[in-house]
Amino acid sequence: TKSQNTTSVGEKLDMRTIASRIKDGQITRIVVLLGAGISTAAGIPDFRSPNTGLYDKLAPLHLPYPEAVFHISYFAHTPEPFYAIARARHPGNLQPTASHAFLALLAQKKVLHFIFTQNIDGLEQDAGVPADKILWAHGNWKSQHCWKCKTEYPDDLMQKAIRDGAVPYCQMPECGGAVKPDVVFFGQSLPLEFDEKEKLVPEADLMLVMGTSLKVAPCSRLPRLVQEGIPRVLINMEKSGDFGSRNEDVCILGSCDEGVRKLAHELGWSEDLDALWRSA
Ligand code: APR
Repeated sequence: TKSQNTTSVGEKLDMRTIASRIKDGQITRIVVLLGAGISTAAGIPDFRSPNTGLYDKLAPLHLPYPEAVFHISYFAHTPEPFYAIARARHPGNLQPTASHAFLALLAQKKVLHFIFTQNIDGLEQDAGVPADKILWAHGNWKSQHCWKCKTEYPDDLMQKAIRDGAVPYCQMPECGGAVKPDVVFFGQSLPLEFDEKEKLVPEADLMLVMGTSLKVAPCSRLPRLVQEGIPRVLINMEKSGDFGSRNEDVCILGSCDEGVRKLAHELGWSEDLDALWRSA
């Protein structure tokens, strides 16, 4: 059913209006898209921020271009650079941020429709978001296979390889392929369920995009699938994608954690957020 929270043409939306529509039950199906910017506060550098982003730090690895470190065709013949940076990208013992806790709060308040995350750190689930509400569009570290023959590789040997920064190789005789975690590299297809879950976006009565430059397809296309008239909120250091092109776009520029705290305050959820974050 078309949600009554569409905005009459010309009315400018702001965070307060969005918060009041969530509080009075007009908004109950929030679809979220996340990128690396939500986890920088947890200690994982993002990719494209100048100087601090990963792609500015790869010069010593003499790559043909920065993204090669995550390209399957480069990994196939030169897996060393990936394992040189894997340890800093691997979740290990990281804590979820206030932003991750806010997502768990949306689920608790029964207004979370679905989360698409481009991140592979698993912090959304660690913060308490139910797994059936998340699609890890770029895969995750939970399992690993030989890139060549696809044979599964033992977790403990993978953990050791990541700790040592050493390339693990396939255990099948005659194969010799390097082992790769089940994260989606450039040149690889996303999980099959992406196409199915993509259908949830037009059902949204609010889209919340956090911590992403919206430079990588197909995730970068998701905000465009939101129906006309439905609000889209961006919480990010900078404007990204086509945000600002629609009357109902709301851009909360600044850090994810600051933006989330402002939104939680407008919702009257600040104590709930702190309690949930402490328990994560
Ligand atoms: N708060 C808010 N925004 C932030 C913060 C923060 N603390 N830190 C960084 N940002 C913003 C940056 O300004 C940038 O717009 O988050 C965005 C991060 O963009 P990218 O580094 O490009 O990361 P992402 O959009 O997730 O990249 C998409 O590219 O390399 C591939 O597969 C990889 O999933 C990744 C994909």
